[in-house]
Amino acid sequence: MFVSENLSVNEKGNLTIGGADTVELAKEYGTPLYVMDEQLVRKNCRRFNESIRKFYGDKGRVHYASKAMSCMEMCRIVGSEGLGLDAVSIGELYTAVKAGFDVSKIGFHGNNKTDEELAYAVSIGVGHIIVDNISELHRLERIAKEQGKRPHIMFRIKPGIDAHTHDFVKTGQIDSKFGFALETGEAYEAVKEAVSCENVELYGLHCHIGSQIFDIDPFEEAAKVMLEFIAKIKNELDYEIQGLNLGGGFGIKYLNSHDPQPFEVFMERVSEVVKAECEKLNISRPFIYIEPGRSIAAPAGITLYTVGARKEIPNIRTYISVDGGMADSPRYILYKSEYEAVVANKANEERTEKVTIAGKCCESGDLIGENMPLQHAESGDIIAVCATGAYNYSMSSNYNRLQKPAVVFVNDGESRIAVKRETLDDIIRNDV
Ligand code: LLP
Repeated sequence: MFVSENLSVNEKGNLTIGGADTVELAKEYGTPLYVMDEQLVRKNCRRFNESIRKFYGDKGRVHYASKAMSCMEMCRIVGSEGLGLDAVSIGELYTAVKAGFDVSKIGFHGNNKTDEELAYAVSIGVGHIIVDNISELHRLERIAKEQGKRPHIMFRIKPGIDAHTHDFVKTGQIDSKFGFALETGEAYEAVKEAVSCENVELYGLHCHIGSQIFDIDPFEEAAKVMLEFIAKIKNELDYEIQGLNLGGGFGIKYLNSHDPQPFEVFMERVSEVVKAECEKLNISRPFIYIEPGRSIAAPAGITLYTVGARKEIPNIRTYISVDGGMADSPRYILYKSEYEAVVANKANEERTEKVTIAGKCCESGDLIGENMPLQHAESGDIIAVCATGAYNYSMSSNYNRLQKPAVVFVNDGESRIAVKRETLDDIIRNDV
């Protein structure tokens, strides 16, 4: 009935998430409110873990891409499931460290890491640093030398694969700000230089072709291209690349019309390609990493709002305005992302209308969505927007000096605060 498996309706006709009544959650914690279902986060982690083990054995690890949803509680949960972490800034690293995450299982990303970020990553001893460009390599060498350390690195490679997804979230093609290009020889030159670096150890290669991708073919293609490059490095430089990170990007169901492949199918097909190519190219099977973010966090989360105004513009549209908007839900204004919405206190009723759900920011484009099928919504109703667990809280802002909402985790009907709602004093905290 709903896009995410953790959503249901209780005897009161209210929407539930992970067994908790969303109308009660809205009452208890206020709105807007992010709600994450711990059990579904754990289940998604296990699905990834189990299928990597099933199809590729124990030479593989899942790193949760914490840009999708980073807070200490999320780090604790994915860490306790045995996952590693892909962190993309000093802030994400710091969050993980403070949550007690095993730093040796962290891959540190970023296309323009600052010296401060590199120094911090080296000092805490992250598992590897994914180097994006040659000047970063030089800076990292200097920083590692200063600290008397020899960090493991991977190179981020643009494999030249064009994934079919929104332009803003494509990353594997040559015209991208991320990584070293293969076609131009840039990547090979960088590898040649890195193999003789004294202060870093070239451990692996990384690629990530984009996000919200449904088709498995581009992942298979990317794996082939990367393995051919690993073989070239072995044959021409006599150097063995041990780790291969194939990135994240697995598409999820935001609407009932979306039909993503189960992750197991992805892992089976990609594992087969890796095994066959390694044999063909006569190279050892690398240690494989994957970095899912959205597919772990998004289906586990919803956002709750309270309806304020209802505006019917005859023959044009009906606006349902809610107490949040682009500050907590920026994906519509950025990518025209579509979501399923439900009137949480009328979840048993038919969706009889198609409405525009509008935010409260001073901006016409501040919408949660247009043409959204919805139950008849009036002032005071609670609206749940589904599958918002990724890239909503993590991309939220204080635009219009709005306070960021709280994040609540539910577990088998029980709820607890993971991130407190910002106060007005938080808003002026750094003002002098
Ligand atoms: N690894 C790397 C290097 C990445 O850049 C990303 C996402 C991931 C892994 C995780 O991808 P996922 O499994 O979550 O698709 N803000 C956009 C998505 C940006 C994705 C950026 N990189 C959105 O809201 O759709």
